[in-house]
Amino acid sequence: MNQLTRLHPDLERALFAEDMIAGLSKSPKATPPKWFYDAAGSALFGEITRLPEYYPTRTEMALLAARGGDIAAAVGPGRTVVEYGSGSAAKAIALLGALEAPAGYLCVEIDPGAARATAHEVELAFPDLPVRGVAGDFTHLQGEVASGTRPRLGFFPGSTIGNFPPEEAGPLLAAMREHLGPGGQLLLGADLIKDDAVLEAAYDDAAGVTARFNLNLLERANRELGADFDLAGFDHRAIWNVAAARIEMHLVARHAQTVTIDGHRFDFAAGETIHTESSYKFDESRLKSLAYAGGWSIDQVWTAPEQPFALALLTADLR
Ligand code: AVJ
Repeated sequence: MNQLTRLHPDLERALFAEDMIAGLSKSPKATPPKWFYDAAGSALFGEITRLPEYYPTRTEMALLAARGGDIAAAVGPGRTVVEYGSGSAAKAIALLGALEAPAGYLCVEIDPGAARATAHEVELAFPDLPVRGVAGDFTHLQGEVASGTRPRLGFFPGSTIGNFPPEEAGPLLAAMREHLGPGGQLLLGADLIKDDAVLEAAYDDAAGVTARFNLNLLERANRELGADFDLAGFDHRAIWNVAAARIEMHLVARHAQTVTIDGHRFDFAAGETIHTESSYKFDESRLKSLAYAGGWSIDQVWTAPEQPFALALLTADLR
């Protein structure tokens, strides 16, 4: 039976308000990317994954399909798969289909609709598999959510790890190691540094879907928090910050303006930006430091030939 647990909507609203107010009080202004994913944002992200410019999703899917047998052999039989930030069910279905006798599937996904849909689709694909969806924030993992059969294989695809700066990514991977328990493994998707033009196009597509995804944050604040962002007053911008090895998404104020959220006023100068997302990209040495910072060892790395993208199998117990 597929069950769904979730945060109370009032609590979620309060956390969203708190993060927006804190983020817009910073200098420079910066907000956490997890709030992109309400129902509208998840649908827009789904559209992004099908854009010609957005290579990560199809590259990682192709890698899972091509190397599924090798991944299964390295993982071993009888694992419960715990996916962090599932978004859609496609990758989980590919992975579960490749693995030998998986023991169960759990996803932790911030958008309740996406969590429910993923759990449901996985259940349809594998009717005998125990499946559970949790609508929650994987940066606040509780031991409770992963209760069930050990040993566990964490699955953190999509290069979502790239949304976290190195000083947060290490502790997050360490929390996942705790969550997965002794003997845990983690299959981590990591996008690799590549040509600037390819990277920038992936985050600033010709059809403007990524721009809508970015602006949806402000729309959501208007909808849920009663904020008064003028959506026509902000432009989408994506830049490759080579020194930090990250794509940055910003919302740029087209002219000076003031916005109010829950009685808090925020002034924008013309050209001032809200830094809404970083998407760090990796190379071999960055991937190694990241894994080690989380207390993991790298067992194997599979890379895609089409566009540089890596799936790394991390193990908790080999250092
Ligand atoms: C879902 C975090 C992996 O950073 O590539 C896509 C989100 N942002 N286009 C990414 C995203 C803009 C995506 N992740």
